[in-house]
Amino acid sequence: MTDEPVAAPRRRRPWLWVLSFVVISVAGLGTLIGVGCALRANACPFTDRSVETASDGPTIWANNCSLCHGPNGAGGPGGPSLIAGERASISLAEIVDAVRGGKPPMPRFKGALTDEQIAEVSGYVLELRGEATTP
Ligand code: HEC
Repeated sequence: MTDEPVAAPRRRRPWLWVLSFVVISVAGLGTLIGVGCALRANACPFTDRSVETASDGPTIWANNCSLCHGPNGAGGPGGPSLIAGERASISLAEIVDAVRGGKPPMPRFKGALTDEQIAEVSGYVLELRGEATTP
């Protein structure tokens, strides 16, 4: 005769659900941050563009635009050239509009840059064009 206790019913494992939830949440958040950073959007915690304090065109350009449009505006992996082709002939007002309102996939900078900063960097785009056409 054995006195073995009856096996306890198999326990559910609520922690498994909690664990899955945490893993999925972290993965989701990671993706969001990753995409945000890739686009340098406000969703990226490492590029808080609201702290942009530069007031001169070249620095604002270097910090916010060169990533996509290249250091001298000739274009880069994320954005077209602004100093050659059709975009080299748009007006200052059109540049300001594009920067302020964005042009998908280009993010809008309204809110991230002040109106003064937007004016500065837009003016700098004209300077970049000028430099490019000077022999
Ligand atoms: C995430 C990449 C990215 C960043 C950052 C970015 N741009 Fe752009 N930009 C683009 C793309 C892509 C286009 C083309 C959009 C289109 O025509 O559909 C564009 C277009 C433009 C245009 C042309 C608009 C027009 O009407 O043709 C200007 C001017 C411009 N960007 C200026 C800037 C300035 C100034 C900054 C920084 C304040 C900046 N961009 C930051 C990607 C970017």
